[in-house]
Amino acid sequence: MSQAVIFGASGGIGAALAAAVATSGRYQRVWAGSRTGSGAPAGTTPFAFDLTDEASIAKAASAIGPEVTLVIVATGILSDGTDFQPEKTFKAQDPAAYARAFAVNATGPALIGKHFLPLLPRRERAVFAALSARVGSISDNRLGGWHAYRASKAALNMILRNFAIELGRTHPQAVVAALHPGTVATELSAPFTGMREGQRLFTPDEAAGYLLNVIAGLNPVDSGQAFAWDGQSIPF
Ligand SMILES: NC(=O)c1ccc[n+]([C@@H]2O[C@H](COP(=O)([O-])OP(=O)(O)OC[C@H]3O[C@@H](n4cnc5c(N)ncnc54)[C@H](OP(=O)(O)O)[C@@H]3O)[C@@H](O)[C@H]2O)c1
Repeated sequence: MSQAVIFGASGGIGAALAAAVATSGRYQRVWAGSRTGSGAPAGTTPFAFDLTDEASIAKAASAIGPEVTLVIVATGILSDGTDFQPEKTFKAQDPAAYARAFAVNATGPALIGKHFLPLLPRRERAVFAALSARVGSISDNRLGGWHAYRASKAALNMILRNFAIELGRTHPQAVVAALHPGTVATELSAPFTGMREGQRLFTPDEAAGYLLNVIAGLNPVDSGQAFAWDGQSIPF
């Protein structure tokens, strides 16, 4: 039995991904995880987890069990609408903001890997993908700012590269990838999408469609790399 697991199914992109994976009919079971463990899209099985509570991730892994051939981590945080905001200058850096960004954007996905990579089959194609962000690319950084978010996504990219190397030794058909969804109209992006000329803003459903196309085209040789919504490789 082949299973898909979407983390962050209460989010804009995560909800669209969970719904699209369920309607694809490719998986016998599609699990949709959120902090509340409720409100999962039709055709999915809800489960509860919190990225800051490792025991909740371990519990989800043992409830879901083996034969997981798709994991998508669609969680993330950029701001909370109050004190936690992307920094415009190094003067605005705050240890609490770094701790929060890293807990959700890097450590949480790392713990999902800890508990879910062992559920991937050894001799079948399987994909472990996490939504990163183009701004997490060090070599692509030309604007600066957003220190904690950028750094936490760069850390996530490193964690995913590490997973790819280790998993590649035992799971030759597995792919681990960082994905950039483009600019998508969600709660996360809403305060920051004053559109620059030529910038495209996707609906969550559009983004989910693009991301699932990218996932479908990934091969083991792509493992450990980052890809944008259009399949273009993003340098770390
Ligand atoms: N939207 C964009 O334009 C854009 C661009 C580049 C990259 N991304 C990346 O895409 C991903 C999804 O973003 P989005 O736009 O869909 O954001 P969103 O709508 O704000 O969704 C964020 C998701 O993360 C979950 N989450 C936050 N903290 C959590 C925690 N401690 N434990 C479990 N879940 C937690 C939220 O759960 P709750 O509902 O419980 O809060 C929600 O499901 C993020 O990694 C983001 O960095 C987005």
